[in-house]
Parts: sequence; structure tokens; C-alpha cells
Amino acid sequence: MSRHDEIRRSYKALGDMGNIYDGIITRSTLLGKIMDGLIWGLDGELSAQWIEDALAPVPAGFSGRLLEVPVGTGVLTMPLYASLPESEITCLDNEAGMMANAKKRAVAMGLSNVAFVQGDVGALPFADESFDLVLSLNGFHAFPDKDAAFRETRRVLKPGGVFCGCFYIAGEYGRTDWFVRHMYVPKGFFTPPFETEESLTERLRELYAEVEVHSVRAEGIFRCVKGT
Ligand SMILES: C[S@@+](CC[C@H](N)C(=O)[O-])C[C@H]1O[C@@H](n2cnc3c(N)ncnc32)[C@H](O)[C@@H]1O
Repeated sequence: MSRHDEIRRSYKALGDMGNIYDGIITRSTLLGKIMDGLIWGLDGELSAQWIEDALAPVPAGFSGRLLEVPVGTGVLTMPLYASLPESEITCLDNEAGMMANAKKRAVAMGLSNVAFVQGDVGALPFADESFDLVLSLNGFHAFPDKDAAFRETRRVLKPGGVFCGCFYIAGEYGRTDWFVRHMYVPKGFFTPPFETEESLTERLRELYAEVEVHSVRAEGIFRCVKGT
């Protein structure tokens, strides 16, 4: 089985347990709090901070075209999209079960400006320079082909557009590195090679005109602007 298929199988199982995933990522369940503390070294404040920092580059009242990849269950972003009724939002993920949770959430919230597309970040089914903003939360540590993912997210972004988000970076927090190596990689949730804050900054500087990177524990958070 290819790594691509292994990743899909792992996230399919997670998608079938949508509530469990949501509780972990938002720290809203006991399991989420334990995992956040034990694996990621986060307390409530730091946990809220990485989410706030990662979403901060999406301007209030944004009214352009936004691509989110991967959307997963949409638990972090559908509430944001509810505040952006003038925008045109496309959400992509290659695992239908994860995305089914996001679709249900969008319907329950009455979001009519959010579309869902199943696909691979490494071969995005969109024209060049078609989005004003590309948002990617917790995806790059999972994607099997990082070069293709960086290339494609840049290709579909308009000149002057913003690429932003977050994902796991190595070398910031020893306990997270241990769990990634011994648990998330073997289970197919994360796929090496992993960036460090330094390597990510360098990589993004080669692709973008403006680059800001910082970390909250092992979450690398970035905001870039594509040159015009
Ligand atoms: C950790 S989840 C993150 C979901 C969401 N952004 C969040 O932060 O809650 C990683 C997601 O990446 C998706 N994924 C993995 N490989 C992918 C690929 N090649 N193309 C598109 N999505 C992919 C998985 O299906 C999964 O939904």
C-alpha cells in the first residue's frame, strides 16, 4: 500500500470518529486536554493561542476567494466562515469521511458560501492564481509529498495573495517529537520529513515575497505573501 493510501486509511478511521477528533483538536474533552498537555505541552492558554495565531491572517470581513486545504472536520474553521458571508470559500480534503463532518457542520450553520471538493493537495483541481488566500491548518505534517503541496498551494494563489496556517515542526518540544516519531508516524497520521522553524522559514522565503514564521511549542505558524 502506498503512503498516500495509508494516510487516507488512517484519516478515514479518524473521520468515522469525528467527535473524538474534534474534542482532541479543540481541547474540549478530557482526552483532548490530556493529549494537549502530555504530547504537545499545551495548557488552555497556549492551545487557544496557536489557533488564534494561525487564523489571524484571515482579515475580518474578508470578501475574496479562500481555499482551505486540508479542511478535515472543519471544526476550527466553520465558525470563522460564519463571520465571512461575503467570501467565496472552497474546502478541500482527500478523505471523504473527514470532510463529511465539515459538510454537516456547514449545513447545520447555514453556510451557503462554502463549497467542498475531494482531492489531493499535490494536484489541486484549480486554475493558476485563482485564490486570494490559501489557509492550511495541520496539513503539511500529514501530506506525503511536501514539495508538491508547497508548489500547488503557491500555484493557485493570486500574486499578492496570502498563504497562511500552521503545522507540526520538529525540534521545538522534545516530548512532541517523541510522540510524533513513535506514534503519529507509525499510525499514518504524520509523514516525514518534518520542517524545523528554520528550514520552514528558508523554504517559504524561496517561494514568497514576505514571510513570517513563529512557533507555539511544536506548532509552526506562518503567514506569507506571494510576490506580484
Ligand atoms: C490533522 S488533519 C487536519 C484537519 C484540519 N485542518 C484541522 O486542523 O483540524 C489532516 C488532514 O489532512 C488530510 N490529508 C492528508 N493527506 C492529504 C492530501 N494529500 N491531500 C489533501 N488532504 C490530505 C487528511 O485527510 C486530514 O483530514
